[in-house]
Parts: sequence; structure tokens; C-alpha cells
Amino acid sequence: MFRKFLYGTPFPTEAIVEEIPLCQETLPYLTENINEKGQRTFCLPLAEEDIVYGLGEAPRGINKRGHIYESFNSDDPYHTEEKRSLYGSHNFLVVSGKSSYGFFVDSGASVTFDIGYTQYDRLTITPSAEDFVLYIIEGDNAYDIIRQFRRAIGQSYIAPKWAFGFQQCRWSYFTAEDVREVVRQYREHHIPLDAVYLDIDYMEAYKDFTVSEERFPHFKAFVEEMKEQHVHLVPIIDAGVKIEDGYAVYEEGKTKGYFCKRKDGSDFVAGVWPGRTHFPDFLNPEVRRWFGHWYKGLLDSGIEGFWNDMNEPAMFYTDEGIQEAVDYLKDFDFACNDSNKFFELGSRVGGLANRRKDYAAMYHTVNGESLCHEQVHNLYGYNMTRAAAEAFHELVPDKKILLFSRSSYIGMHRYGGLWTGDNQSWWSHLLLNIKMMPSLNMCGFLYCGADLGGFGANCTRDLLLRWLAFGIFTPLMRNHSAFGTRQQECYAFGDTEAFRGIISLRYRLLPYLYSEYVRACENGEMLFRPLAFDYPEDIVTRHVEDQLLLGDSLMVTPVYEQNAVGRVVYLPEEMRFCLFKGGKLVKSEILPQGHHFISVALDEVPLFIRKGGSVPLYEAAESVDRLADEPVTCLTFQ
Ligand code: GLC
Repeated sequence: MFRKFLYGTPFPTEAIVEEIPLCQETLPYLTENINEKGQRTFCLPLAEEDIVYGLGEAPRGINKRGHIYESFNSDDPYHTEEKRSLYGSHNFLVVSGKSSYGFFVDSGASVTFDIGYTQYDRLTITPSAEDFVLYIIEGDNAYDIIRQFRRAIGQSYIAPKWAFGFQQCRWSYFTAEDVREVVRQYREHHIPLDAVYLDIDYMEAYKDFTVSEERFPHFKAFVEEMKEQHVHLVPIIDAGVKIEDGYAVYEEGKTKGYFCKRKDGSDFVAGVWPGRTHFPDFLNPEVRRWFGHWYKGLLDSGIEGFWNDMNEPAMFYTDEGIQEAVDYLKDFDFACNDSNKFFELGSRVGGLANRRKDYAAMYHTVNGESLCHEQVHNLYGYNMTRAAAEAFHELVPDKKILLFSRSSYIGMHRYGGLWTGDNQSWWSHLLLNIKMMPSLNMCGFLYCGADLGGFGANCTRDLLLRWLAFGIFTPLMRNHSAFGTRQQECYAFGDTEAFRGIISLRYRLLPYLYSEYVRACENGEMLFRPLAFDYPEDIVTRHVEDQLLLGDSLMVTPVYEQNAVGRVVYLPEEMRFCLFKGGKLVKSEILPQGHHFISVALDEVPLFIRKGGSVPLYEAAESVDRLADEPVTCLTFQ
């Protein structure tokens, strides 16, 4: 049962594609109020046993209860527990207990979800804007509600099969030679590889849709050369367009009035990687079409995959912000003996990035009318990605192009996947990656993954191995690391045998993973599910957050703690335990329902086959296009 409540005249996000009639009823379980800031709030009592699933890309656990979250797409690489927002805004949650309710707040502006934070027995939803749509979904259980929601938001993006291969990224491989070396090393060590990424340094001065002739000469031939080695190159595209006379994207965007504005109608300026930039007004369909067609040059060079970045949009600084800091410094009173002033100085000068004040000073033009960015902030990355996807549909209709984004909103799941942005080489971020997968799947994002090994900070060999041992199950399987950190390629830690073994298993399982993924996209199902969704009668499963069901036949139980030699697993029923080493099955035993300790060495991968399950295993290959048509065996448990 889907109910739609309309408040004011919201900007149409197009998150929901199913026709849902407006509802006038008042629901007995929901209290509507106006808070002290004049904002509308919706309050639902939470029973002791209620679990709250959802919010897609958000910090903390699968059960979101006990914290306060704010949907506001944020460029913040430290996904620590106290954070309220990450890169995506996915305003869908399900309260699951004796009764189950789903809520989707459809708004491009920020929304706060106080999930038993202020009061443990209360959920309070507060949209910041006056204009929004609230959807309330009733169903038999959490998964039933999720299925209804997934049907309403339309089919998820399906990535090409090669994009299920292992992918290597780094900020940056600066030259074609650097890329060749990465590929050479992977091939020499026989570690499978399907893609290498081009981060911002492939461009000329970080200008979108340019390629540095000096560092990547004869680009088209280079793309072809890599394809001959079964490797796809995947370039980054950033949201900001460099302000530079003579640069065609800038000149054309400016002449046609396609950039976001300041209140006075001048083009809004913010500093990002290229220096001062303008942001294309992606909410305008004409601008989307224009920007999308700029991808053509790279498509013509043979590129078949892209990652859209910095599209919250991230702002390092604005002229206005710098001016305020400079004025503050000019008037700084050195004689004042107040340490609070010292802290204020730090935040004035150090807090220039992504200021809410700057977002509030940016405007979109929608149907000839000016709309403040604050009202639609969370839709920006979504519409950048939509611009690309719509252009691909027109330019290369018969080809599946890999496309994913950093910033997102529900609706974008029809156009591309996502990666979970800049994480860190921390064990806690491996666990966060595990917990986030089902939440993302609920919201329609199936082609997704985290930067394996962690983006910021220095990765260690054991962390990368454990992370890969989980990453082999996530659709996007990409190792990525930041400038200035230790090299993180699988050959950078000495002995490569363990890496080869783990990644080979991905390829052996790939046909199963890809077909389960496509099926989940087509049928509006979740690829990764919490155990409680399939075993609702078993109350222990309600609190298991570090094991996931994957497709119909598998349960994955990653090891995510340093120095662990294995882990405790919970089996809701009898299952077949399979342990892989070197890509080969080295242990297979049937374990009864209950808790078990399983030993898992650093070079091993555990998985469980469920009753009735069947998983075909293929011969390992070094790239997806070299996988055989027929499996060599089948892991079953009848
Ligand atoms: C951002 C991206 C990251 C990329 C970097 C440089 O931080 O999230 O993935 O490597 O920019 O482009």
C-alpha cells in the first residue's frame, strides 16, 4: 500500500516513476507538527524491538536506530560515527517490528532523520524545505515494503559485464607510461584485471573533456592498445568547468547561459581542482543534453566507462569565502588574550570548503525561474549522471557504458551506479562497506562499491587482502588510493600469490554474481540482504550486521578485524561452508544451525551455500572477456 502526501509545490525529482494517487487520509500512527524553526515534522513511536533499515549511503550500522542523520550530499572523507551526512542522500527508510512502515521523503533539500537519537522510542523526520512529497508504504514486512518501493522508482542501472572485473585506480597515474606499467605488473603477476582508471591528471589543466597530449599522446591508439590487453580505461569527469578563455566547454556554456548563477544573475564561481570554475545547471534538461554530448569525444576515442566526481558539488572555496577570511584576518586583534579567538581564526580560515552559505548563494534556472541551490542540492550529482546516461543512450544506443557517480539521490539509480566516495584505509571502513551494501540496495543502487583498501591513509597488506576478500562480492570491485599515500596496487606489497588467489575467485564466481545482479536489477530485488529478511522467524538474525545474504544461494561472512585468524559466524539453518585459497576450494563441510568459529587465513575466502543453493564455478581467467562459457563445477547444497 503506497500513499502519497504532497506539501507545497516541490521541484520534481523524478525519483518515483510509478503513478501514485494523492492521499488525504490521516494515519493514526504518525503525528505531524511544526517545530520551533517553523519546519514540519513527522513523528512515529518506535517500539523496543523495532529495527530501522535504510538511508542508503549513510554512516553506522544496518540498523540505523540510535543516531541522527541529515540528507545533505557532503564531500567529507572521514566517515566517522558522529557524521550525519555522506556523499549521497537516500531518504528511504523502513521501520520493521510488529508492524512495518516505509517512508520516503522526496525532496532535493536537506532532510533530518532523528532515529531514536533524541528519544530512543521516537522517529522524527524533518524536511528542511516547505515543499516536498512524503510517501508512506505499508506492507507485510520490510522486504515487501522495499520491493514496492523499488517497483515505484524504476529499474536499476545495469553495468556491462566487464565492469564486474577487477579494476585498479589511483590518484593518479600521471602518464600513459604509468598506466602501461600498472597493466604490465598485473599481467606479469597473473592477477586478473579489467580496467585502469584515469584520475584528474589525464586532463589538460583539469579541464573536462580534454586529454593531455603531452602525457597521453595518441589517446585513441592508447585506448586501443589497452583493449588489446583486455583492459578498459575509465576516465574521471568532474562537475566544475574551468574558467579559461578559449576553452570550448567554458565558452559555450557561458554564451548559452548554462551555468549556475549568483543571485544577481552573474555566473556562480567556486574553486575546485582546475582553480576557478562554473557549475553547469544540470537541473535544466537543455543543459543536461549539452553537457552529455561533450562525452562524445571520449566515446569516439574508444572509452566505454566514466566516473563522475566532485558533483555534490564540492567547492574548495569561493571568492566570497576568501574575502570574508581576509577581512577577518585584517581586523584580527593580536592584543586580545582570548584563546577562543584562536579557535575562531582556525575555523574562519580553515573552513572555506563546502560552506552552506556558499550553497545558499548559488541559483538554478528552472523553467525561466530562479531556484536557490539549497532547495535542490541533493539532486545535483544525480542530474550530472543523468546527463551522461541520456547522452549515451542517444550516442551509443547499442552499447552498455560503465557509469557511476560520487554524489547521488534516489532516481540516479536508473542512470548509473555509485562509489561510496573518499574513505580511509581503516578497518572500520571495511566494516562500514559491508554494512552499507544492503542499505544501498534497498534504495535501488546495485552497481556500487567502496574504494577497496581505502582511499586516504596508508593501507597495509593484511587490510587490502581482507578488503578484497569482501570486495570480490561487490559489483564495483575497484582498488583506489589517494595522492601521497603508499602505493596500493596488488603487486605493491611483495608476494602476490594471495592477491592472485582472492581476485581469481571473483572471476570464478563472476557469472553467478553478474546474473544474480542483473536479475535483482530487473526484478527490483536486493542483491545483498540482511539475514533477517530471509529468516524473519529467527530473532538472532535481526542483530547480525556483519554477514550478508548474496543472491539466492550465498551467505558471505567477511573477516574485518586486524590480526583476526577467523571469526564467529551465525547460521540460521544448516549450510555448506566453503573455504577458498588460491582460487581453489580447499574445504567444504556442512555445518549445523547455530554459532561457529571458522578459521580464515589472510589468503583465504569463506562463503556459505544455503540449502537448495547452487553456485556455478568457472575456470579463473585474467579478464572477463576470457571467461569460458561453461562452468567447471557447481557448488551445491541440496
Ligand atoms: C576526489 C575523489 C577521488 C579522486 C580525487 C582526485 O577526492 O573522490 O576519488 O581520486 O578527487 O580526482
